[in-house]
Amino acid sequence: MARVFSGIQPSGDLHLGNLLGALVNWERMQHEHDSVFCVVDLHALTLLQDAETLRSQTIELAQLLLAVGIDPEKSILFVQSHVPQHPQLAWLMECTVSYGELSRMTAFKDKSNRDGTKFVSAGLFTYPALQAADILLYDTDFVPVGDDQRQHVEITRDIAERFNSRFGETFVVPEHFIPPAGARVMDLQRPDRKMSKSEGESPGTVFVLEDPKKIEKKFKRAVTDSESEVRYDIEAKPGVSSLLDILGAVTGEDPESLASKYEQYGPLKTDTAEAVIEMLRPIQARFAELKEDPAETARLLKVGADKAEPIASEVLARAKHNIGLLS
Ligand code: TYM
Repeated sequence: MARVFSGIQPSGDLHLGNLLGALVNWERMQHEHDSVFCVVDLHALTLLQDAETLRSQTIELAQLLLAVGIDPEKSILFVQSHVPQHPQLAWLMECTVSYGELSRMTAFKDKSNRDGTKFVSAGLFTYPALQAADILLYDTDFVPVGDDQRQHVEITRDIAERFNSRFGETFVVPEHFIPPAGARVMDLQRPDRKMSKSEGESPGTVFVLEDPKKIEKKFKRAVTDSESEVRYDIEAKPGVSSLLDILGAVTGEDPESLASKYEQYGPLKTDTAEAVIEMLRPIQARFAELKEDPAETARLLKVGADKAEPIASEVLARAKHNIGLLS
């Protein structure tokens, strides 16, 4: 059976982009593949975090993943720092990737140039090596992610191929799985930018735990354009196309054929808001239940780590042996 691996950072609140770009596919793929999902707390350390906030966000994110439908009976769900093979393999990855390759990562360029970023950690730069370790430790075939992670999966493939050609067959070379709709959910106020876990008031970001009334308002105020034709055209009509993309991702319909059903922007906004709210309703209800018992979530995560570790440790041993470390 093919193996699926993916990860998500416990920083900021979960938003519609995370859900449509990645998590709905995690949920779907777990029924068909051997699946491993990880809350990547070590990745979150690349930017300064408040210790208590990080701890509570890690548990909360795990509860959200369970609420979305990640089933710990079907998938392995764990926290990255509970499986020490991740940072161990990351060092071997750092020695297999070049400074030049890491310098070309757009996520690094974006985050290190962000307004107000005074301290750029070395971890932010070497981040893709840790991500490659995450993926390669599980002999992963498919990595379900949003479009912004395409480059990180590409560099993982390059690292795996280089390691294999230098030291002999060691790693499975993974492929990304990027969905046809929802891979790049855009900010509702700035449709030229992807939706992200931005700070403070975020009129362009829809959060998974947000109040339905607020969500409705955000969609009503979504930026479109001064025309009135509903057409899927990302270049010419980014705002409208982004709404069609969201509606398509939620309903499973093709955004272009959805466009033909609308003559005005108003009904498109209302229907998109409604579809999103209906999708989020059961997730919010399930989350409210899970939130009551953080100890049970922590227990499930430990069980997950106990299942992940033997897989990771076998692959790490293979890599250490092939690269010439004494066993
Ligand atoms: P992160 O935590 O930023 O995002 C988690 C997932 O959400 C997707 N995503 C989006 N999809 C569509 N539209 C958007 N606006 C949007 N914003 C975010 C991301 O593509 C991602 O799939 N580096 C990764 C975490 C990671 C990882 C891994 C992923 C660490 N190790 C190994 C896969 C495999 C990240 O920061 O994702």
